Amino acid sequence: MEDFAARIPSTLIGALLGVPEPDQEQLGIWADLMMRYEPDGVSAEKADGIIKLQAYMADLLESRRRVPGDDMVSGLLAAEIVLDDGSTRRLEHDEVMAFFALLHIAGSETTARLLGWAAVLLARHPDERAKLVATPALVSNAVEELLRYEAPSPIQARYVRRDVEWHGEQVPGGSKLALLTGSAGRDERTFLDPDRFDVERVFDTHATFGYGIHSCLGANLARLEARVVLEETLARFPTWHVDESAVELVRTTTVRGPSRVPITW
Ligand code: HEM
Repeated sequence: MEDFAARIPSTLIGALLGVPEPDQEQLGIWADLMMRYEPDGVSAEKADGIIKLQAYMADLLESRRRVPGDDMVSGLLAAEIVLDDGSTRRLEHDEVMAFFALLHIAGSETTARLLGWAAVLLARHPDERAKLVATPALVSNAVEELLRYEAPSPIQARYVRRDVEWHGEQVPGGSKLALLTGSAGRDERTFLDPDRFDVERVFDTHATFGYGIHSCLGANLARLEARVVLEETLARFPTWHVDESAVELVRTTTVRGPSRVPITW
């Protein structure tokens, strides 16, 4: 994770946002800290990471405000929102900061876990991995199967604004709702033999990137990253072993997946 899987997404999203190359890895480390779940109160390390991340983002915003570049931060600064009365306005400083953080964290944390799951699951299922080595055209489908099988973002939260009925259940307005999209990936009403990992599985959709108006903005970027990483890795290293007893998972409120995957060849 440290040497490869967590570095690829954070350096890529960093580059798209306009973070200079020497700083991209550090931003990934701060984003990691920001996501860390600390039930007994925020540690000094996490608080320090958040402060440094905020300060870094504010500095970058300032420099792009002065000299815009060909990057997403400059794009956010130049963006205009059309209001109900037809007039337009720019994003406020806090809004650009929030988008910057959202894109960086959403773009790096989840995709890192997807790549981690790929390392674990393909080692656990060497026959499935061999199919990908023999037929790289299957990799795109394997990425969807990985997403279905181990969702990196397995729970989404909603606030229910009014009384509704879903699937015969009354949900009162004002409720907090947890949507277990990770569980939906293993729903036996939708997927045949859902606990079987099958890179050739034929299916149209899964809920791992969410659904509806808030579905994942970066879904195709994540798919592209995973496909390229898998194609290039499998071409160089067709086999590997994972010591699953030493695999560690991240501790966050939203993201689920490996933080450590010891690999031997
Ligand atoms: C495997 C990788 C990824 C997974 C599993 C994932 C998952 C999700 C899910 C489930 C949602 C919906 C959240 C909700 O309904 O409350 C979401 C939203 C979002 N994702 Fe991703 N994501 C991934 C990669 C990315 C990447 C690479 C980006 C970077 C551009 C990104 C940016 C976003 C943003 C901005 C939203 C919010 C969209 C909105 O609220 O309108 N995600 N993602």
